[in-house]
Amino acid sequence: MKILVTGGAGFIGTNFIRMMVLNHREHKIINLDKLTYAGNTDNLSDLVDYPNYSFYVGDICQPDHVEPVITGVDAVVHFAAESHVDRSIQDAAPFVITNIFGTQLLLDFAREARVSRFIYVSSDQIGGSLLPGIYLRENSPASPNNPYAASKAASEHLVYAAYHIHQFPSIVARLSSCYGPYQYPEKLIPLVIANALEFKPLPVYGDGLHVRDWLFADDACKAIYQLLLKGRIGQIYNVGARMEKTNLEVIKRILKLLDRPEKLITFVTDRPGHDRRYAVDPGKIERELSWRPQTEFEEGLRKTIDWYLRNIEWLADTRSSSYREYYESLYSSRFAVEPTKPEF
Ligand SMILES: NC(=O)c1ccc[n+]([C@@H]2O[C@H](COP(=O)([O-])OP(=O)(O)OC[C@H]3O[C@@H](n4cnc5c(N)ncnc54)[C@H](O)[C@@H]3O)[C@@H](O)[C@H]2O)c1
Repeated sequence: MKILVTGGAGFIGTNFIRMMVLNHREHKIINLDKLTYAGNTDNLSDLVDYPNYSFYVGDICQPDHVEPVITGVDAVVHFAAESHVDRSIQDAAPFVITNIFGTQLLLDFAREARVSRFIYVSSDQIGGSLLPGIYLRENSPASPNNPYAASKAASEHLVYAAYHIHQFPSIVARLSSCYGPYQYPEKLIPLVIANALEFKPLPVYGDGLHVRDWLFADDACKAIYQLLLKGRIGQIYNVGARMEKTNLEVIKRILKLLDRPEKLITFVTDRPGHDRRYAVDPGKIERELSWRPQTEFEEGLRKTIDWYLRNIEWLADTRSSSYREYYESLYSSRFAVEPTKPEF
């Protein structure tokens, strides 16, 4: 298959492309990425001479960037997005533009190019905050609570509409929280690893008891590949690891593995409207495709930490001046307030 991957220079896209180019050489991968702050060409620089890989810098919102690369492809795996909730709270406009408008534009061109599969990579956040014991199912109503989640929900609906109206061969892969190598250090796990390595305070929102289902990136990529080969068109598939942990549990595990003191944990003012718990029911993909995550949380965390330790330069380059500016803008006022005590 000739596969167009959007957003391949970001976190999950990088893991997906590396898996495909290195382990599935029968496919040809074309990567289209705008290289926003979250995209990094170093991630894939060792693949440039592979005959089954090509890279184009381009914006999914620009027809003249999309048309030349989508013509003649068999499938699209669409990762490209603005992906960070805190940034969406600071400024929602880029999320509406890339995640909603960009997805629609890509759908239109993919339909014209008569692709045979279109995988849209969505998020468990579309379901909003769930009470303990409740799981987001594929047919649960969308109930997003922040601009990022709202933009992902909107584009899920657009992807479904293309199927419903035009029988367009789309599939939604709805992932839970992913972690692993190459994740930009604004997200919880790499941020904690990066700060802990330097004995810097670890900002923890609110009481730190927000729950996420942690899915190792490798496992997410294998699920997406299975969906590309065998998923039913017009369907949504939840992809989760049944690995629910509070943020505090995650942070304490990282501190233990890095041999750093828990006193680095610093409670800061919570994110406004912070969803308490996300959790998907991945039963459908387990039943239909026999997909199961292969990586236990502890093992995935060790692999992730090992990767960041072996790639200290990547981490340093990524935490450039623009990262520092953003980090300051987000956390400087929050550190100033009285820390919230955790409830156990
Ligand atoms: N990371 C997670 O935990 C998670 C969980 C569920 C779903 N998702 C979804 O998976 C996808 C990938 O997430 P990620 O964490 O790898 O994101 P990321 O922010 O690390 O990477 C996004 C990539 O998209 C590129 N991009 C952004 N705007 C673009 C545009 N207009 N045109 C072309 N490229 C553009 C960026 O340059 C970057 O390389 C996203 O759609 C996200 O919503 C992520």
